[in-house]
Amino acid sequence: MIKNRSIITIDDISDDDLNEILTAADEMDRSLKSKKKINILDSRVMCTLFYEPSTRTRLSFESAMHRLGGAVITMADVKTSSVAKGETLADTIRMADAYSDIIVIRHPLEGAARLASRFTSKPVINAGDGSGQHPTQTIMDLYTIKKEIGRLDGLNVVLLGDLKYGRTVHSLILALSKFNANIKLISPPSLRIPEYLINRVKNKKSLEILDTMDGNISDADVLYVTRIQKERFTDPNEYQSLIGSYSINNSVMETMKKTSIIMHPLPRVDEIAPEVDQDPRAAYFRQAANGVPVRMAIVAKVLGGI
Ligand code: NCD
Repeated sequence: MIKNRSIITIDDISDDDLNEILTAADEMDRSLKSKKKINILDSRVMCTLFYEPSTRTRLSFESAMHRLGGAVITMADVKTSSVAKGETLADTIRMADAYSDIIVIRHPLEGAARLASRFTSKPVINAGDGSGQHPTQTIMDLYTIKKEIGRLDGLNVVLLGDLKYGRTVHSLILALSKFNANIKLISPPSLRIPEYLINRVKNKKSLEILDTMDGNISDADVLYVTRIQKERFTDPNEYQSLIGSYSINNSVMETMKKTSIIMHPLPRVDEIAPEVDQDPRAAYFRQAANGVPVRMAIVAKVLGGI
C-alpha cells in the first residue's frame, strides 16, 4: 500500500503496488478517453519543486493532479524562488509541507528526495535526484511495455546510452530484473552502469555488458535509448568526446524485429533521428503520453483517493 507513503526509489513499490498502479492507470486512461469527470482529489493540493529542468515529468504530474480534480502550486524555476536568496532545501520543504498535501521534487543531487522527506510528514515523490533514480518514470515505462507488447515477463531488453548518469535506467534495471528480462547494457566503456546496480540484479546470467550495438539489438523486444547526460559531466571535453556515440536511424531500425519497440524517456538530442518517428515501432511519444494516466494512478493512490 502506497497510501500516505513517499516514493523515493523503485524499492518503495512492492509487486502488489505495481500491479495495482498498472490496473488503476488503465482505468484512468479509459476515463480520460471517455472525457468522464474525475473529482477524487477535490480540494487537495500538489506542490511541485523543480530544481532542474523538466518538461514531461512536471507537466504530466501537474496535468494528472488537475485531471483528478486537485490543484497545483509550483516552483518550476529556482531562480524565481527564495532558493536564489540562499534558502536551504529543509526550509523550502517545510513551506511546501505547510501549503500542500503531496510534494513532487526534482533535484540535481542524488539523495535530495530522501533528505526532503525527512523535513515533512507529507508524501514526497522523487521526480529525479541527480544520477540516482526516477521511480515514477520506471512505472510508466513498465506500463508502456505492457501496453505495447502485452506482457512484462521474459523480454529481451537493451538499455543503450548513458547508463552511468541516466537515472531512468537505474530504476528500470531493478524493476526489469524482477520480470526475468534478458538485459543487454550497451554504453561507452566510461558510461557503464554503476556496479551497485549490477550487484542487485538477481540473475547475473541474464545480463550482458557491451559497448557496441552491432549484432546486439536484432533480438531485442525493447530498445530503451537514453541521452548522454551532459549536465553531469565535470569535464566538458569528456562530454564532447561522447556526443554521437550511438544513433538510431532507419537503417538501424531495419536490423530490428518487426515486433520490437523503441523507447526513450526524452528529451532526445541526437540519439534517435527524427526519421524514426514515423516508424510504428517508435513508442517514445506514446510512452511520454502514458505519464498522465500513470501519474494519476500513483497520486490518487498515495493521497488515498482510490
Ligand atoms: C529524464 C530525466 O530527467 O531523468 N527525463 C524525463 O524525466 N523524462 C531523462 C533525461 O533527462 O535524459
